[in-house]
Amino acid sequence: MSGLKRTKIKELLGSGKIGSEVLVKGWVRTFRSNRFIQINDGSTINNIQAVIDFEKFDESELKRITTGACLSVTGTLIESLGKGQSVEITTKTLEILGDSDPEEYPLQPKKHSMEFLRSIGHLRPRTSTFSAVLRIRHNMAYAIHKFFNDKGFYYLHTPIITGSDCEGAGEMFRVTTLDLNNLPRTEERKIDWKEDFFGRETNLTVSGQLEGELGAMALSDIYTFGPTFRAENSNTPRHLAEFWMIEPEMAFYDLNDNMDLAEEFLKYLIKYALENCSDDLQFLSSRQQEEEKSKPQDQRSMELIEKLKFVLDNDFVRLTYTEAIQILENSKPSKEKKFQFPVNGFGTDLQSEHERYLVEKHFKRPVILTDYPKAIKAFYMKQNDDNNTVRAMDILFPAIGEIVGGSQREENYDKLMNRVTELNLPQKDLWWYLDTRKFGTAPHSGFGLGFERLILFITGMQNIRDVIPFPRTPKSADF
Ligand code: 4AD
Ligand code: MG
Repeated sequence: MSGLKRTKIKELLGSGKIGSEVLVKGWVRTFRSNRFIQINDGSTINNIQAVIDFEKFDESELKRITTGACLSVTGTLIESLGKGQSVEITTKTLEILGDSDPEEYPLQPKKHSMEFLRSIGHLRPRTSTFSAVLRIRHNMAYAIHKFFNDKGFYYLHTPIITGSDCEGAGEMFRVTTLDLNNLPRTEERKIDWKEDFFGRETNLTVSGQLEGELGAMALSDIYTFGPTFRAENSNTPRHLAEFWMIEPEMAFYDLNDNMDLAEEFLKYLIKYALENCSDDLQFLSSRQQEEEKSKPQDQRSMELIEKLKFVLDNDFVRLTYTEAIQILENSKPSKEKKFQFPVNGFGTDLQSEHERYLVEKHFKRPVILTDYPKAIKAFYMKQNDDNNTVRAMDILFPAIGEIVGGSQREENYDKLMNRVTELNLPQKDLWWYLDTRKFGTAPHSGFGLGFERLILFITGMQNIRDVIPFPRTPKSADF
């Protein structure tokens, strides 16, 4: 080997190192006319072209340069002689690090369906679309930490294994080491959880909020960012059984402060993507424009970058749940009975179709709904004086529906206890949470942003299974 240090393709394409000797390593995307190799190493959406003089190579070696094979190439970086790229490499040496049998390699240089790509989750990160999504995902994770760090929030690591059900929806995955074929029993023939690993029943967390609140009552402003698990049997393009959630929790914030922070946060992330992921966004945009061509004119959606800028430049509409119900009841689809789930006045749990009607048809911009009926929201939300609604807020986005859910929290011990009793929640699992309302309670608020729903919005992808490297959904946990 030449002693040269490897340069990543992203750096090569932007470096202006014309005339110098370079070493690149990556995977073959295409090999054309026994002369032009397109190589990608994932550092950028763009490939580098290595040009070879085939007379200098054995036939048997040329045959091994197949789509998917891994190569190490040295040569001179020159200004490209052909169209389509600014620089290319005149190859001097070429080493095949890993062969890839073209008869078996499932990723051919042609368009594959998203469904097919899900079945080869181990290889799909090598496609342009998925590598673009994964790079954007990384950038968004970084921007989230940067946003909160710059604001003086502290990153709090909340547990993944818990004994409580924050959302109270009972959608939990049990964690146990008991022998399921030989369960220990109490005298009443019930399962004896005392014998289990933690000496109690445990599950994977559905939210880090309850522990997040403990952090806010000490550090003022915290956020969590971790995996969350929900055993809800919803096979939709917006639900995962394992997803990532960002949950800031702030002492001394009321619901308005909470909404202001959430709107600022979402806009910051969109702006960060526009400024730092433009190559990948451009690629995803042209890919979608291609797909849109097959749709009738009036069903085509807004171009991706235009859509991101639109959300960035406009205030989110804020209204109460009760106002939204009135709009929905008077809407055309409601009158013509076009909604799959009818809107039946106060108390109706809004479905994605209703949320999207408000955002996409009625207001034509993101919407924040507040003051939901207490009966359809979690126990910890601050109760309004009407005794009917709570200080909740959901942020609804085009194409996604709910992207953020949050609230001001009930800080009054007695009111919170009333709710716990009314809902028959297990006090033995919540005593530590209730304690915060006994020792220096304070008004506070927070929200949860579904990370994958954010990535769906930013990338314009259609299905949540395609914005997480290895999706977990009902009946599917491969890779
Ligand atoms: O509205 P949710 O259930 O709120 C909470 O969990 C609160 N503890 C948050 C808080 O106040 N700290 O979930 C918050 C967000 C939703 O708005 C949605 O974006 C996302 O999490 N989400 C899911 N994303 C993917 N798959 C699922 N099954 C999801 N369930 C919720
Ligand atoms: Mg919610």
